[in-house]
Amino acid sequence: MRDFALELEERKQAGLYRTRRHVAGPQRPSLIADGKPLLSFCSNDYLGLANNPANIEALRDALSKTGLGGAASHLICGHHDAHHQLELRLAEFTGRSSALFFSTGYMANMGVISALAGRGDTIFSDRLNHASIIDGCILSRARVRRYAHGDVAALATMLAETSGHKLVVTDGVFSMDGDIAPLAELARVCRAHDALLVVDDAHGIGVLGPEGRGSVAEAGLSEEDVPVLIGTLGKGVGTSGAFVAGPSMLMDYLVQKARTYIYTTAMPPALAMATISSLDLIERDQGRRDHVLGLVSRFRREASAMGYELMPSHTPIQPIMVGDNHDALALSQALEERGLLVSAIRPPTVPVGEARLRVTFSAAHSQENLDCLLSALSECRHLVQKADVAI
Ligand SMILES: Cc1ncc(COP(=O)(O)O)c(C=O)c1O
Repeated sequence: MRDFALELEERKQAGLYRTRRHVAGPQRPSLIADGKPLLSFCSNDYLGLANNPANIEALRDALSKTGLGGAASHLICGHHDAHHQLELRLAEFTGRSSALFFSTGYMANMGVISALAGRGDTIFSDRLNHASIIDGCILSRARVRRYAHGDVAALATMLAETSGHKLVVTDGVFSMDGDIAPLAELARVCRAHDALLVVDDAHGIGVLGPEGRGSVAEAGLSEEDVPVLIGTLGKGVGTSGAFVAGPSMLMDYLVQKARTYIYTTAMPPALAMATISSLDLIERDQGRRDHVLGLVSRFRREASAMGYELMPSHTPIQPIMVGDNHDALALSQALEERGLLVSAIRPPTVPVGEARLRVTFSAAHSQENLDCLLSALSECRHLVQKADVAI
């Protein structure tokens, strides 16, 4: 038998051991984690909606009408009218013909990719795509070719060399870097080479684009340009679940073929109603987006002036590049001693030698919260190498 205990010990030695914190109370910037009050800068609740009173009220109200459990899979008797309402709302929100509600973004990526490509086909995947995309590619049994991050010219060359069914998949906003894929150029080369483009906008939905419609809408791209759009609902939208949106025929195909849609219990229908409430709020409330993006601009200005190495991101994901795993842990620990929760991200989540602190912002953060972060970063500056280039 494998020596699992030894592997755990080796992880500890390499600075790669992961632990979980116990959070008490609702998700918001001021958290109680492991019994300690901390100011969090590591959640994906970009719009501060995870604890929104109107959405909680919508959930309560829906619970009294729909009950709690999903009871069965969608294709047996779990497909509730509340799920249908949400799918119509998601199609409208994203400007697509049709949408399907999945239980998580991880399941959406696994199910969609493995349904739309299979043995004998080729998938082209950005090197920095999320783990759920990588796993979806593996599950598909298609040939997988990874292209350098955001390198549309390299992708075009690969596409030109390949025949048969081709699927290109990319994060919209890259989860650990915060930058945005070159979506317009990707759409152009996919059209030129008859490849199906799949964009996972997990971190753009709610936050970017007109009325929060995401990075694809921000790039002005329609259903013809990006036929398969995936989004998650547990991040900017503040509830839970995920969706895929696109042409009705493709959604019908996924209902027949996406195993992570078919072989799982439907989400509690009341959650769908809370998500509709949240989408209504997101469309109306530009103020939340303006506020969080304002915090991002100020952070970038002041943290790069201190000499921290930031990444080319203008989204609420603002990683501080550190490099070494132990150094990243030391910076995270020093911030925690100053009352801040910012997690260190290490391989395999990011490439070896690129450990970083993934700082994220929320509309629920105040300017005073940002003051606290900046002043702690200033005190901890000596813990990381000076950046060669200020971005
Ligand atoms: C780009 C991306 N896609 C998908 C997911 C998975 O979504 P979920 O948390 O809903 O499973 C994540 C993060 O969790 C992500 O960063």
